[in-house]
Amino acid sequence: MEHQKTIGFFDSGIGGLTVLSEALCRIPGADLLFYADTDHVPYGTKSKEEIVRFAEDAVDALCERGAEAVVVACNTATSMAIGALRERYSIPIVGMEPAVKPAALIHPGERVLVCATPVTIRGEKLHTLIDRNFREGIRPTLAGLPGLVTLAEEERFDFDTVRDYLSSVLDLEERYAAVVLGCTHFTYFRDTFRALFPDADILDGNAGTVNRLVDLIGGEIPGEGRIVYLESGRPVTDPDKIARFERYLARMRTI
Ligand code: DGL
Repeated sequence: MEHQKTIGFFDSGIGGLTVLSEALCRIPGADLLFYADTDHVPYGTKSKEEIVRFAEDAVDALCERGAEAVVVACNTATSMAIGALRERYSIPIVGMEPAVKPAALIHPGERVLVCATPVTIRGEKLHTLIDRNFREGIRPTLAGLPGLVTLAEEERFDFDTVRDYLSSVLDLEERYAAVVLGCTHFTYFRDTFRALFPDADILDGNAGTVNRLVDLIGGEIPGEGRIVYLESGRPVTDPDKIARFERYLARMRTI
């Protein structure tokens, strides 16, 4: 019998379910663990030291439960902690980064908006990525949108609420060729971004991250299609909480 592999995913909260949802399409049947760090969400306004500690606790908990590869389904944790995680663990650790490279490749010389958490926006990793992919003079516009993390955690997806928040922090009259959603929580709002920026490609890094996972571990992963949810390490058994996670996965199938 083929050895069954369990794949761990983690995020500060429910954002990582947008990546898990992509994995469910690509590697159906695999056994998955999803760790939401509900005790510490949001990460996007915390210090690097805190984020590294939270990320190590998450990967420890996932490994204790048998994860043989871990997807850091969080741009912020990747930006701050991926180096520390790869030093500490020998299993494959897949990180994610804002889809700056595809935006630059598909729209050379055009205007790009990159949205992420304040920590990702300030982080060296994003600036290095931009330097590698954009020429001097045509830099993307950067926007830290912590309010979208709160709206996603509160399941507030109605168009008017999201537009009102975005109009308080962005000029919605600006036109872009691409809008990069550089935070997994933001993917839940891709329908709103499409409506507000109808001429723009709305890009996220989810498919690229799952492709990388499949490259590393293969696309045929035998399992029973189980998903175990953890909140900051504690297994989730409350049916209302499981139903909440499932609502986010259901939303991803509709937008
Ligand atoms: N979902 C996370 C990301 O992709 C972080 C959100 C937060 O906790 O601030 O960056």
